Amino acid sequence: METAIVNITEENQSEETIREKIYAAGQIIQQGGLVAFPTETVYGLGADALNPQASGKIYEAKGRPSDNPLIIHISHRKDLDKIAKNVPEQARKLAEKFWPGPLTMIFEKSEIVPLETTGGLNTVAVRMPNHPAALLLIELGGGFIAAPSANTSGKPSPTQAEHVTEDMKGRIPMILDGGTVGIGIESTIVDFSEAIPMILRPGYITAEMIQEVIGEVRIDPGLITEDAKVHPKAPGMKYRHYAPKADLILVSGSRERVQEKINELAKKAAKEGKTVGIIGTEETKSGYQYGLVKSIGTRTDAASIARHLYGILREFDQLDVEMIYSESFSVSGIGQAIRNRMLKAAGHQVIEV
Ligand code: TXA
Ligand code: MG
Repeated sequence: METAIVNITEENQSEETIREKIYAAGQIIQQGGLVAFPTETVYGLGADALNPQASGKIYEAKGRPSDNPLIIHISHRKDLDKIAKNVPEQARKLAEKFWPGPLTMIFEKSEIVPLETTGGLNTVAVRMPNHPAALLLIELGGGFIAAPSANTSGKPSPTQAEHVTEDMKGRIPMILDGGTVGIGIESTIVDFSEAIPMILRPGYITAEMIQEVIGEVRIDPGLITEDAKVHPKAPGMKYRHYAPKADLILVSGSRERVQEKINELAKKAAKEGKTVGIIGTEETKSGYQYGLVKSIGTRTDAASIARHLYGILREFDQLDVEMIYSESFSVSGIGQAIRNRMLKAAGHQVIEV
């Protein structure tokens, strides 16, 4: 299949031209096809959420297990009630505060949502993304777009159109190229299908931000336990996912000790003939003597670290790096989501120094 890569950011194109391009993408969705598109978190791989065959194509293109449900993206808050039942007042408050934005909420599904879209569950995940092209595509595509992250299953989520091209070229008819995304890690997921709301996936919207609006919220015990027998509730969170090809090891502790340890490990791996990558920061990158050193961002701005995480993992893949040693980052605010994704990418390999 030919994949059209359609640029919707280049300057010197009129708003009308961009709209025509997104209109064409919406036509593909309405006809049951797939379109990859930018959102503020990561790129999504979209299909008509109410068309079971169309959702089925997403699983095929990603190589995704069919029991892993998809998020339905809407462009108007009022559309929530068409696909979800028993939406509690607290959820409406969160929608009011954070939509459009990087927040996904789970409810009982309505009859029009096919089980193919929800991985066989009778609940549905819903999000209204904060990205003009995504919102227009949803509107022109029929109002309900099912979209997982647009990576091959098991690879880091795409934060640039080039990442989507790497994974999806030849498999889907169109990629809308909207440049680099703003946030860089997937939306926060809050489950409202049980009595007390529960965070199933941490993200840019933190537990503290949610608590401020609705009071009590729990965190899925499966996310924080070291006990491998306790599984997270979101099916997608149980896979070793977000992962690079290389073996990734996190080193945690005081800045000096971490640098010392990473230098020691990198030296040893290099001596064994392995290609080594190191994830440091603007503040620390000059302190490493071995391997390919990349700065993930600055420690004074956690958002910059979130934005670059998946891109760095992909860059190391392209360089055929075999071992990656990474510093670890503080867990306040968005740091918790960064920690969660890094632990998953590392398959929970952490060295404390
Ligand atoms: O930021 C995002 O959320 C991006 C952009 C494209 O919107 N999407 C995204 O989708 O990350 P995906 O499919 O890669 O991750 C969705 C996660 C999976 O872990 C899935 O198991 C979980 O949400 N999920 C979806 N529906 C669910 C449901 N009904 N119950 C429990 N978990 C659900
Ligand atoms: Mg994903």
